[in-house]
Amino acid sequence: AQVTFSDANGHQSVLDVPSGTSIMEAAVDNGIDGIDGQCGGRLICATCHVFLEAVEGPAPPGLDADEDDMLDYTAVQRRPNSRLSCRLVMGEGPGALIVGLPDTQT
Ligand code: FES
Repeated sequence: AQVTFSDANGHQSVLDVPSGTSIMEAAVDNGIDGIDGQCGGRLICATCHVFLEAVEGPAPPGLDADEDDMLDYTAVQRRPNSRLSCRLVMGEGPGALIVGLPDTQT
């Protein structure tokens, strides 16, 4: 899926994230500033916080109880559309997502 990262200053970066890959992994591998992913996707750091602003095509996995709990530990306070991007694993097929980046992850 095509993922657009939009930071607090309105600067945007776009990545093609293959199916089976999380947005956190793609961001870290491609040097997107604003996503730390310190725990490597083990759901214990909350430094991969994003705001899921738009989804076109297949929806990413929904919020489960573990992610919901961890979202209480983000550096920037959670919002209704907050997600942990290590949990946003892309599915098959085309699609497009826009994620907002918080000011800080720590
Ligand atoms: Fe640590 Fe997502 S990378 S919770």
